Amino acid sequence: MTEWHFWGEKQFADVYENIYIRTCMEDWFKIVKEIVKELTGFKVIIDIGCGEGHTTKQILDRLDGDYECDLLEPDKNALANGKVFLFPENNIKDCYVKTLDLFEPERKYDAVYTIHTNYYWAFNERGFVKHLDKLMDMIKSDGKVLILTLPEESDHYNIMIKQVYPRFNYSQFMIDHYKKKGYNVRVKRFEMKMYVGDILSTKKYFELKSFYRFIHNTNIYPSDTDAKKFLDKIKKFQKNDCLNFKDDLIIVSRNK
Ligand SMILES: C[S@@+](CC[C@H](N)C(=O)[O-])C[C@H]1O[C@@H](n2cnc3c(N)ncnc32)[C@H](O)[C@@H]1O
Repeated sequence: MTEWHFWGEKQFADVYENIYIRTCMEDWFKIVKEIVKELTGFKVIIDIGCGEGHTTKQILDRLDGDYECDLLEPDKNALANGKVFLFPENNIKDCYVKTLDLFEPERKYDAVYTIHTNYYWAFNERGFVKHLDKLMDMIKSDGKVLILTLPEESDHYNIMIKQVYPRFNYSQFMIDHYKKKGYNVRVKRFEMKMYVGDILSTKKYFELKSFYRFIHNTNIYPSDTDAKKFLDKIKKFQKNDCLNFKDDLIIVSRNK
């Protein structure tokens, strides 16, 4: 099984091991198409935290050729893997092996987008807000910032038995922050359903405990007591054997 390493101030591995065999019924391609729609007409773009570049490719493959996209990713191996299939077919310009915090932009962008990376930016609210403001500083006066992240109502957060991601990671915090600054903020809500019928029907604990590790962003397997608490939460929030993680696409610009 592939080891997944996520960089930044937090580092973890292995917790994604059972996620890709779990059935997801998400609006994923609706999200991709919406991001493409939002990026259409913008020339100079950057993907912040592109990982191995699979999402990047899904997006850029659907944009017309008149763009150039920079990539920023702190994990050099992930970026190297992505470059192999992105360079032949997509208009990739500069690649930076950096965290957003340490990135020193060399130009202003028409559009900055970042997909499920905010959880790893900062430990405290002050540091997090600095990242939000930095994204806005990176765009031209008529540019836009796109952030895809989970809302507070996400079952991902609902089923946790301990709070792992501070509240400032929730989409509403970011929306409020940008609105307070007087920016124009739009939000598009998507579904992201994950099948848990296998966990609910098995008499064993392996799947449950693996899923616990993914949800709580930890390599450590829970005790049986914590696993049972976790199972109770899954039972409470599941509908038709599915959890709904939901996804918010936050679109921020300066112009009204
Ligand atoms: C859940 S993955 C998402 C990857 C990609 N955006 C996608 O949608 O497939 C989170 C990514 O954020 C990156 N990351 C972690 N900390 C970061 C930071 N401080 N600044 C920028 N990216 C970061 C990780 O290396 C990882 O590639």
